[in-house]
Amino acid sequence: MRTTKTLPALRKLIAAGAVALVLAACGGGGGDGGEAPAGGGEPLTMGFAQVGAESGWRTANTTSVQESAAAAGVELQFSDAQQKQENQIKAIRSFIQQRVDVIAFSPVVESGWDTVLMEAKRANIPVILTDRAVDSTDTTLYKTFLGSDFIEEGRKAGQWLLEESAGATEPVNIVELQGTTGSAPAIDRQEGFAETIAQDPNLTVIASQTGDFTRSGGRQVMEAFLKSHPDIDVLYAHNDDMGLGAIEAIEAAGKVPGTDIKIITVDAVKDGMQALADGKINFIVECNPLLGPQLMDLAKKVAAGEEVPARVVTEETTFDGESAKAALPTRQY
Ligand code: AHR
Repeated sequence: MRTTKTLPALRKLIAAGAVALVLAACGGGGGDGGEAPAGGGEPLTMGFAQVGAESGWRTANTTSVQESAAAAGVELQFSDAQQKQENQIKAIRSFIQQRVDVIAFSPVVESGWDTVLMEAKRANIPVILTDRAVDSTDTTLYKTFLGSDFIEEGRKAGQWLLEESAGATEPVNIVELQGTTGSAPAIDRQEGFAETIAQDPNLTVIASQTGDFTRSGGRQVMEAFLKSHPDIDVLYAHNDDMGLGAIEAIEAAGKVPGTDIKIITVDAVKDGMQALADGKINFIVECNPLLGPQLMDLAKKVAAGEEVPARVVTEETTFDGESAKAALPTRQY
């Protein structure tokens, strides 16, 4: 049993008040109180440091975490870091001060977490990585990592292009819209795609730049790509939102997205799936944001001192136009 469970409730409440102030200062939301557990004991408290609200995927992920916490009777302290690492570090320190039972977070970038994770470890508060990984070599700093295999997602995107352009005798010019610089999905989706398309020397990435996973970023960078490269054949965007922004730029330039420029994206949120069904996107690699139920399950286990797998990989698929049309009526996000 962890020491926090024996703290007087009053001490916890005073600490929670102090933390609420700090979180408000760095853009954090208030508590999203879970229902009391059926057994009548103290509810599990979780501090969750979210990346931000940069994409449709992120919004769906936040909803999943908040709804699952309420359903599982977990008392959630939710903080939105507005895509800034310093805000996430502040939130984690606040959670430590508050002495929550479990800390979960989706690291905005891969590097620079060792110090704060060591502080959590010293405070005997288990940490769960969700959605994105850290590059720390000390794997004792967190209990488990729940999320997608981003390298595999990049490979699936590259594989579709390999098959689509099989037999091409001319060079195929690809532009790439990267996610947030230094983030695990940006690094890994680039790596998986590059290693796969390397099998065909005709496939060349002629420009690659970050659009920060946002629709506006995707539109602005694509506008610049179109000005400097009149001969773009393919766009590979690391998420749907950047792809959707790029579609606006492509149409404004008088070209037809999905026809003049083939488009591959990652996520499969509703807006992306609609564009795929409409023929404006050609292929989407799914990245599932509905991590909440598994996260709550893992949190209860680590708080109880149970062993959990070091890595829990999310199951995902891919979509073309036809499968998008079939999936859209029941798509949850
Ligand atoms: O970490 C997951 C990625 O973050 C999603 O693919 C993207 O849309 C989000 O912003």
